[in-house]
Amino acid sequence: MLRLASTTDPAWTARALAHLDELLLDHAHLEKKAAGTAVTLLFRHPDRRVLQEPLARLAREELAHFEEVLAQLDRRGVPFRPQRAAPYAGRLHAAVRPEEPARLLDTLLVAALIEARSCERMALLAEALPGVDDALAHLYRGLLAAEARHHGAYVGLALELFPEAEVRARLAELAAHEAAVLAAGPPLPRMHG
Ligand SMILES: [Fe+2]
Repeated sequence: MLRLASTTDPAWTARALAHLDELLLDHAHLEKKAAGTAVTLLFRHPDRRVLQEPLARLAREELAHFEEVLAQLDRRGVPFRPQRAAPYAGRLHAAVRPEEPARLLDTLLVAALIEARSCERMALLAEALPGVDDALAHLYRGLLAAEARHHGAYVGLALELFPEAEVRARLAELAAHEAAVLAAGPPLPRMHG
């Protein structure tokens, strides 16, 4: 179950379909950033044994997805290039508390929420894309299950390291923050726009 505090507006799907190449480029960058998040946590917390294999596995899966999205960009003739990031992730991370161990808990839960939002939106794309771009529809149908699993993995790691009541309460707070960040826009054709 995804622990999101809001549901994506149908206008987002229309915007995404109207600017598929930009969305796909954004998605490629997101997969690479998701791998980076997992690797950063590995370097920051070598003392937390329980994090090691799950984060290593996550990083590998995100990089495999990065390669899959690169292949789709090539197929559509879209050059891979730098792209200005949507403000979403920066604003979301602004809620991460600076002191450990709160920083670890918040980072795990923010990562969980990003995965959840990706999963929700990939499901919308998987539904909307058949007939528009069947190969992309197939890609998103495959990826959304992985995103749901990644969401569960991050919440599961938080639950292994912190008391359940604390995890649930903080997750609800951060989910409300995530919904507010998305609602504040700007409305971009991005996975988290
Ligand atoms: Fe993921």
